[in-house]
Amino acid sequence: MSSSIISKAIIPAAGLGTRLLPATKAHPKEMLPIGRKPALQYVVEELQAAKIHDILMVTGRRKRSIEDHFDADPPLVTALKQAGNEALLQDLDFLEGRSHFFFTRQSEPKGLGHAVSLGAGFVEDQHCVVALGDSLIAGENPAAPLLAMMQAHVELNAAAMIAVEIVPAEETFRYGIVDVGDRQPTPGEPMVVQDIVEKPPAGTAPSRLAVAARYVFSPVIFEALERIVPDGRGELQLTDAIRWLVRMEQPVYAWLLDPVHKRYDVGNFESYYRAFIDFALADERYGYLVRKYIKSLAYEF
Ligand code: UTP
Repeated sequence: MSSSIISKAIIPAAGLGTRLLPATKAHPKEMLPIGRKPALQYVVEELQAAKIHDILMVTGRRKRSIEDHFDADPPLVTALKQAGNEALLQDLDFLEGRSHFFFTRQSEPKGLGHAVSLGAGFVEDQHCVVALGDSLIAGENPAAPLLAMMQAHVELNAAAMIAVEIVPAEETFRYGIVDVGDRQPTPGEPMVVQDIVEKPPAGTAPSRLAVAARYVFSPVIFEALERIVPDGRGELQLTDAIRWLVRMEQPVYAWLLDPVHKRYDVGNFESYYRAFIDFALADERYGYLVRKYIKSLAYEF
């Protein structure tokens, strides 16, 4: 079995984004620009580079601009061609080629697990990727971690392969945290997950390995999502479904991202600003101007 059997991805993008209000009052957080592109476009380009071309986006109320952005736009392309604007045409490459975009709506934000469960009919009995719409992977080749995770998932016949990153001990309460026992975390080596907990109270986290927005699943995840119950806030948590898999002795692995691939979460203002600044500085076209500007500001600090 080769990793090329994985051709489908679900992008949950239906969350309320309350931490980014008022920016997200009428605008999806997944569409906030990071440099010259909306955050979600980076996620889609990462999937395309990993040869995943059937992409289901789970959207919701106030998220219509997502469908507009990922819809082909022949009049715009014709206008850019007539104007001979090759650079802008290249920026629209994500609409070309073999990718098919599908959309479904999560009418109420009933949790990440619920959003993923809406992809069951789309995925059917295949393996799939889940990539959160508000998290980007940056680096020379942003698709490299996902490609390696898919390869390992297939080789190990896994039920789940979950990207993780090391976070400071005092921040573990913000994340889903995996327990890999005594295993020394090494990037690029799948670690058997013994347990997983969502947002553990301070001081109780089993490790500093936090779930990092990219997952590869076998179809058994949809059975797990049917078996679990909503949490105290009425939300179905993906973490609980993964925990169910572990309890059922299904092979679940964590995959530590290597340090050259940085993950950016655009879910709160601090991390959003950080992502925007880093991407603006690295921009091939405008980065030198931003660097010049920041240097000029540095004199004022
Ligand atoms: P978050 O955990 O950041 O939640 O979602 P949120 O609701 O979007 O944001 P806050 O907490 O109100 O600020 C992580 C990812 O899961 C999606 C979000 O769109 C985001 O991409 N999600 C979350 C859903 O699709 N549905 C949900 O019910 C919850």
